[in-house]
Amino acid sequence: MTMMNKIVFATNNENKLREAREILAPLGIEVISQREAGADCEPEENGVTFAENAMIKASAVYDIVKCPVIADDSGLCVESLDGRPGVYSARYAPKGQECAKLLAEMKDIPDNSRGAYFQCTIAYIDAEKYFTVSGKCVGEIGHEERGTNGFGYDPVFLYNNGKTLAEMTADEKNKISHRGNALKELYKKLKEKGE
Ligand code: IMP
Repeated sequence: MTMMNKIVFATNNENKLREAREILAPLGIEVISQREAGADCEPEENGVTFAENAMIKASAVYDIVKCPVIADDSGLCVESLDGRPGVYSARYAPKGQECAKLLAEMKDIPDNSRGAYFQCTIAYIDAEKYFTVSGKCVGEIGHEERGTNGFGYDPVFLYNNGKTLAEMTADEKNKISHRGNALKELYKKLKEKGE
């Protein structure tokens, strides 16, 4: 296998960057941030699907760096809220207030209807091809914030081991997370294509 060893990650989100590095470094892939690659852009995410937004971000950075690029569009889909906040997860509430707002909005939802999942869609672009891969993490929304690791909605997202994502170590989260699952798919697909 001649797996490429460097990919630019089209993101300004330090948490996404850290997780991608933790997951891809052991697989022999070095993740360069878009800032390190000299791509100073933040395109408008005006797509209506995770895949559209991931492609928008990846292609904006690919146009500048012209080397293999990935972008991640992700969010939390809550069943009792008809899939909201979904692709609008980043804009649901001011940063740091998303968990409190979600708990307030769900205060009357009973335990058996609090199912939710995180989705992560990764777009990949290089000179010859482009594609998207996705990963999910299924769980439920708790009644309070627990834990201090991770970011975003992690403190209210309960996994089936009884811990929130914010109570897990980075390693524990990466093994079961939507981002971990999507990046494993990406690695598989690149390997199939002989990269
Ligand atoms: P975007 O992909 O930049 O549109 O932002 C996705 C948003 O979804 C983030 O700002 C977080 O609020 C949320 N999100 C995505 N992945 C995670 C995660 O792993 N944990 C907690 N929240 C996440």
